[in-house]
Amino acid sequence: MKQLMKVVATTMVMAMAAGVVYAKESKSMKEGEELFKQHCASCHPDGGNIVNPKKTLKGADLKANKVKGEKDIVKLMRHPGPGMQSFDAKAIPDRQAKMIAAYVLKEFK
Ligand code: HEC
Repeated sequence: MKQLMKVVATTMVMAMAAGVVYAKESKSMKEGEELFKQHCASCHPDGGNIVNPKKTLKGADLKANKVKGEKDIVKLMRHPGPGMQSFDAKAIPDRQAKMIAAYVLKEFK
């Protein structure tokens, strides 16, 4: 009986922890999405690119253009290529820039 209680308690604690992690993750995804809509979607609607159609935010294009992860995306926000507006840390602080990058990588595969 004691053993069973232990198993039940452990399972509950683990489920709660997983719930917290999940809630945190989806909250920052949501924030990333909002920020993306606010700052990026005008030129990148649905992860496309209205200025340069060869440089969309879809996985295949990112790969072809050597944009490999969050860091590269944040770097591009700070120092973009021709036609893209630049966003310094005042416009989009690092923490938010990372959330946008995570959203881009997850949303537009
Ligand atoms: C004024 C229009 C505009 C806005 C606003 C804009 N971009 Fe861009 N973006 C572009 C253009 C144009 C390029 C291609 C630049 C080049 O030739 O290197 C680009 C390229 C990119 C790339 C590289 C894509 C690839 O396949 O190589 C990423 C990543 C990116 N933008 C992310 C963002 C994010 C994140 C935001 C918002 C914080 C944003 N952009 C806002 C116009 C824009």
